[in-house]
Amino acid sequence: MKEDTKIIHGGGKTGKAHGIVNTPVYRASTIVFPDTEEMIKASDGALKQKKKVLFYGRKGTPTTWTLEEAITLLEQGHDTVLSPSGLSAVTTALLAFLKTGDHLLMTDSVYEPTRHFCEGTLARFGVETTYYDPLVGSGIADLMQRNTTVIFTESPGSHTFEVQDLPAISEAAHAGGAVVLIDNTWASPLFHKPLTLGADVSIHACTKYIVGHSDALMGSMTAVEQHFGQLYEARQQLGVAVGPDDAYLATRGLRTMGVRLRQHQESTMEIVRWLQKRSEVKRVLYPALEDDPGHAIWRRDFLGASGLFGVVLNETSEEAVTAMIDGMQLFSLGYSWGGFESLICSSTPKRVRTATDWSEPEPGLRIHIGLEDPEDLLADLEAGLDRFNAVLKGL
Ligand SMILES: Cc1ncc(COP(=O)(O)O)c(C=O)c1O
Repeated sequence: MKEDTKIIHGGGKTGKAHGIVNTPVYRASTIVFPDTEEMIKASDGALKQKKKVLFYGRKGTPTTWTLEEAITLLEQGHDTVLSPSGLSAVTTALLAFLKTGDHLLMTDSVYEPTRHFCEGTLARFGVETTYYDPLVGSGIADLMQRNTTVIFTESPGSHTFEVQDLPAISEAAHAGGAVVLIDNTWASPLFHKPLTLGADVSIHACTKYIVGHSDALMGSMTAVEQHFGQLYEARQQLGVAVGPDDAYLATRGLRTMGVRLRQHQESTMEIVRWLQKRSEVKRVLYPALEDDPGHAIWRRDFLGASGLFGVVLNETSEEAVTAMIDGMQLFSLGYSWGGFESLICSSTPKRVRTATDWSEPEPGLRIHIGLEDPEDLLADLEAGLDRFNAVLKGL
């Protein structure tokens, strides 16, 4: 099946009833059984064999399985489990593979709340985290310790957009007995297939491109066969479950993700090329650009680029960036991304880095290009840069 067909048909047979196209919203806590034998059979399937059988609402229903199956198909993994947010997918996956006394290698470009989890909960439970340069590649082998059990990657990072050499990192990790987790949110399961490049678990904040409409939170973890059992068990033990309405919305979003993403990509390319020519702009951080430092690896490992990028400004100030952002007509000020709308916020990665220097002028910008007409977005950005310049030059 081609990728666009997988997006439409993945999981589509699960829970189909009465010829209705979409799997309905099954609301369930208790599942009742006709007799003890059936109950034991269901318990065996859900708990021991880790199968998608109706046993208890928390273990899933056809509504959640439809989404899990579709993501598994796109990720080319063994199976997927869902969680109620992207961050809970990250934390559940980390807890699945770490124990007291372990050492975790974490990319320095990671989404900030993931870092907080390492410094808070994981540190409290005796897991030591070392942050590494996202561009380390096979050099990661030198950072591995006897007790390194997990290497966490995020490629590209969602503020600084370094592309990681996943095959090289995975090879070194596996040689040292560690598993590789990746936050694959930026590319979506359509544009990057980390499980085919050596990663063991691919994580999504489905909240972004899969949901696609900024109206639900959802996370997913897809694993290769060897590691799925451990992930499934952690999800069970932690009581991680998702609401059926949100699973329905995420599946509904997924069905149009292909066309949305291609439009995000096309519009973003037009806008980043325009920004590159502006005198205010020092660098645009977007791996699909030929002169981006991550371009070669992006070309080798990715199938496309999404709508999120960074802008490094030549000369900047907080006041000037605030004047730009606060007067935008179409770009809204807000975190998150991946919905149909354009967003802008200031970006200050230096503040959180610990292993590597981010020596670019700050604040910069982080922009998400939505599905509006790019001409309108360019006009909004141009007016924004006028306000930026006026403040910078003290006019
Ligand atoms: C790269 C990345 N991973 C994970 C998350 C967390 O997702 P959620 O907001 O669904 O918890 C985000 C949210 O912004 C993100 O940007």
